[in-house]
Amino acid sequence: MGAYYLDGRLGAGGQGVVYEGYDSEGRRVAVKALHKAGFGDRDMLRKEIRAWRRVAPFCTTKVLHDDLDGPVPFIVSEFVAGPDLRHAVDGGAPYGPEELRRLAIGVATALVAIHRAGVVHRDLKPENILLGSDGPRVIDFGNCPHRRRHRHRRHPHGNSAIHAAPSATAANAATARSTCGDGEPPS
Ligand SMILES: Nc1ncnc2c1ncn2[C@@H]1O[C@H](COP(=O)(O)OP(=O)(O)O)[C@@H](O)[C@H]1O
Ligand SMILES: [Mg+2]
Repeated sequence: MGAYYLDGRLGAGGQGVVYEGYDSEGRRVAVKALHKAGFGDRDMLRKEIRAWRRVAPFCTTKVLHDDLDGPVPFIVSEFVAGPDLRHAVDGGAPYGPEELRRLAIGVATALVAIHRAGVVHRDLKPENILLGSDGPRVIDFGNCPHRRRHRHRRHPHGNSAIHAAPSATAANAATARSTCGDGEPPS
């Protein structure tokens, strides 16, 4: 796709399919091929990419390139060699207390950095947390700047949806069970 060689599928979500790919220098990257986008969608994608680029790279994946004007819009980002939290929990033993604490602190730190960039993630869930060997990376800013419907909605446990998401994610890692349905954010 574009100048990128695609070699296998890493995952998929609401927005598109993500492939493992290589650039012309052989560097491994993640290429997100987006579902068909109309012109309005492209404007939203541009906003998403702007928000994503503002976030400190240590806690997310670096955006390397984007092309939203071709027949299949795509975004190229830094490859993370590690599963997302959903796959890790579904395919292995639940997290023990120390691992869970490390994960929760890593994700909380990422959220602080995201908020410092002026971005509210709004779709924090296990699928959007990649477990890099050097710590968790929060990805997928697709719901950030434009979709406001989850904002400050109350969660049954008393927190707003935004605040409930990190604790629900940690509970999911501890029990290997979803606390709020099929990976959807609490509503
Ligand atoms: N940079 C990456 N490195 C490795 N795997 C990735 C990367 N980006 C995404 N993935 C995989 O692809 C899945 C979907 O990516 P995501 O950006 O969340 O797409 P969507 O917006 O469609 O949900 C993730 O849950 C993860 O498994
Ligand atoms: Mg996702």
